[in-house]
Order: sequence, then C-alpha cells, then structure tokens
Amino acid sequence: MYNNNKQSFSTRAIHTGYEAAENHGALNPPVYMTSTFCFDNVEQGAARFAGEESGHFYSRISNPTQELLEVRLADLEEAEACLVTASGMGAITATMWSLLEQGDKVIADKTLYGCTFAYFQHGLTKFGIDVEFVDFTDIEALQAALTSNTKVVYFETPVNPNMRVMDIQAISDAVHHYRSDITVVVDNTYCTPVLQRPVTMGADLVVHSATKYLGGHGDLIAGAVVGKQALVDQIRVVGLKDMTGAAVAPLTVFLILRGLKTLELRMQRHCETAQSLATWLLQHGAIESVYYPGLQNNPFYSLAKTQMSASGGMIAFELKGGYPSAVKFMNKLKMIKRAVSLGDAETLCQHPASMTHATYSIEERARHDISEGLVRLSAGLESFADICSDLTQALEDV
Ligand SMILES: Cc1ncc(COP(=O)(O)O)c(C=O)c1O
Repeated sequence: MYNNNKQSFSTRAIHTGYEAAENHGALNPPVYMTSTFCFDNVEQGAARFAGEESGHFYSRISNPTQELLEVRLADLEEAEACLVTASGMGAITATMWSLLEQGDKVIADKTLYGCTFAYFQHGLTKFGIDVEFVDFTDIEALQAALTSNTKVVYFETPVNPNMRVMDIQAISDAVHHYRSDITVVVDNTYCTPVLQRPVTMGADLVVHSATKYLGGHGDLIAGAVVGKQALVDQIRVVGLKDMTGAAVAPLTVFLILRGLKTLELRMQRHCETAQSLATWLLQHGAIESVYYPGLQNNPFYSLAKTQMSASGGMIAFELKGGYPSAVKFMNKLKMIKRAVSLGDAETLCQHPASMTHATYSIEERARHDISEGLVRLSAGLESFADICSDLTQALEDV
C-alpha cells in the first residue's frame, strides 16, 4: 500500500493507502458496497470474531473502503490510527461511550458545538457521569478542576461559534502532568489537518465532523476519530460496534476520499477569503466586533500563529444593532446561504443563538460566552468580490 511520509500533504491526501496496480489499474478506489464478508470456513469466522485473525467480517465494524479513508486520515493527522463514523456526533458519542463509565468525570471547555454541549450536559449526566465546564483559556482553572475520577478532557479550537483559541500543547501538558492516562480529546473540525494537527501537540484523540471541510461539498454527513491505536481499537469494538452502531456507508466514504484530494487547495482559498472578509468587516460601520484569530487585534492572534498554519475559514461577528440587526442582515442575504454547517463551496451564514446553539438555554448561552446577536459565517469558495458585494447590500441600513 502506498504510503510515503516524506511527501507533501496534498500528495498524501491523494495517494496514501491506495495502489492502482492492486485494483485492476483503477485510478479511483473501488467502493465495497457490501454489508458482510464471507468466511472460508467456520474456523476462520471464529478467528475473525475473536480478533485472532485480521480481516473484515461486517461493515458496521470495518470495510475496505472505510479502511482506505482511515489510513489516509491517520496519515494526514500524523496519528497512529483512525476510525470513520456516520457523523461527527457519531464520532464524539462513540468515543465517550468507550472511555467513560458511571462515576467518571469529563472536563470540557465552556463553549462547545450545540449538540456536543447537549450530549455532555443532558446525555452523559443522565448516566451518572460528572461533567464540568471550565474556561480552557485559563489553564489554572482547568488544573483546579482535575480530580482523581477525571477520565476525559475535551475541547474545540477554534471554538464553534465564538472563535476562542485553545493552547493545545499547554492544555495537553497540564492534563498529562496531573495524570498521564486522562484522554485529551480535541475537535479539529474547524481546522482540519491542513491547519493544525493536535496529536503532534500532545492530544490523545482528535474528532472530526467530516461533514464539513473534509467532505467539503455539503453533500454528506460523516465523522472520524483519530489518534492512538489502542484507543481507536477500543472505540471501534465498543463505541462503534456495540454502543452507537454509527457506521458510515462506503459510498459516503468515497465522497470524502474525493473531497480530500482538494482539501489543501480548498483550505488555502477558504482561509485567504476569510482573512480578507474579516479585515473588511472590521472597518465596516455597521459592525461592532469581529472574532477571527487572523486579525492582529484579536486576543488569540499570537497563539493561533504558533499552532495553526493559517487562521481558518470561519468568522464570527456582531452587528452594532445587536440581535434585531443580525436578523435583518441575515434575511437580506441573497447569494450567501442562510444555513447551518460549514466548510462548503457555498458561503454559509447562520445565527448560533437560534440555530446551532439553540440547545443551550438563554442563561446557558450567556454563561458559556455565546451572545444572542452573534452571526457565524463560513467563507465559501466564491470570489471575495462577490461575497463582499452580497454582504455590502445586506449590511445597508440594518
Ligand atoms: C465543531 C463541530 N463538531 C462536531 C459537529 C457534529 O458533526 P455532525 O453534524 O457531522 O454530526 C459539528 C457540526 O456542526 C461541529 O460544528
């Protein structure tokens, strides 16, 4: 199987794990549309079920198409192993159900994607798991929250939706200094391995919504867990196989493999456009604040420069008129789509308080740093001029 770590990111995103000569010369990998795999005899079936012989036996657990994407994503994240799942939430829940049991504690950053927050706040706690939300930009506060029953430390960076940036190395070091067997999990959806590779900064596991930049075209739902082999193996046989069943269809995997071929190119364009848009929005009279780590006045500017290779394709901002102006602005958009999700070719704009973060109560949003007037924009691949022209007309008289 083709794997050459000395080659560049884009080359590996196109070639790792696949050899055309082993597949009738087919340029693109075959899609194994099969639910089950046949055994030569009962003994072989028993050996595969017992994990004594490698090989696929049922596509909820593994499949050659999934395996190719897993090999490729692990390589791109510079990690030992990967597991692909039916959604980002499938990746997160399969991970947590595998690592936690009653009486354990999870410490999470105070702001998370809405459904992750709902799962932690309302899901895990129902099963006797203690969840504490702490501001991870304050490492001492995180250290103070660590206890003997802490099993998982979880965060996103940059954070959805308010764009705070977490110091992956400092958090991982602080947690592992306290106890090396606490699993540090980073949601790398906003950055993708093009911009940052948390495993190289001390994190144990990375989770992804592959629905976003990895797929890149708004036509699929999928997820991934990447990291240490032993942890990924455990998540496959417990969280995926028995507890969520969140297996991803081979055809969806094919689309992600196709998306990966242009990932670096797309990320470069998303980042360039977002950087220009953030600078443009900052000087616009209708805008109160812009949250983008690539702006020099942003409190996370220096940290982002050290751990991200560019500042990303996501921007958050507030209008001077607050919530009513945000609604008026959004309803005036013409080319830019009012839609949740992110990382697509189309520029997408959404209002977290009423959409992705409606899982928080108003009081929770206030406590967790999600203001009611915040607008989130995912810079698409259209030209900067066309995005700006739609923003200009939508920002008039708001
Ligand atoms: C940062 C982040 N993590 C996880 C998820 C969940 O992913 P999915 O929608 O693929 O289940 C999302 C979805 O928006 C997200 O933005």
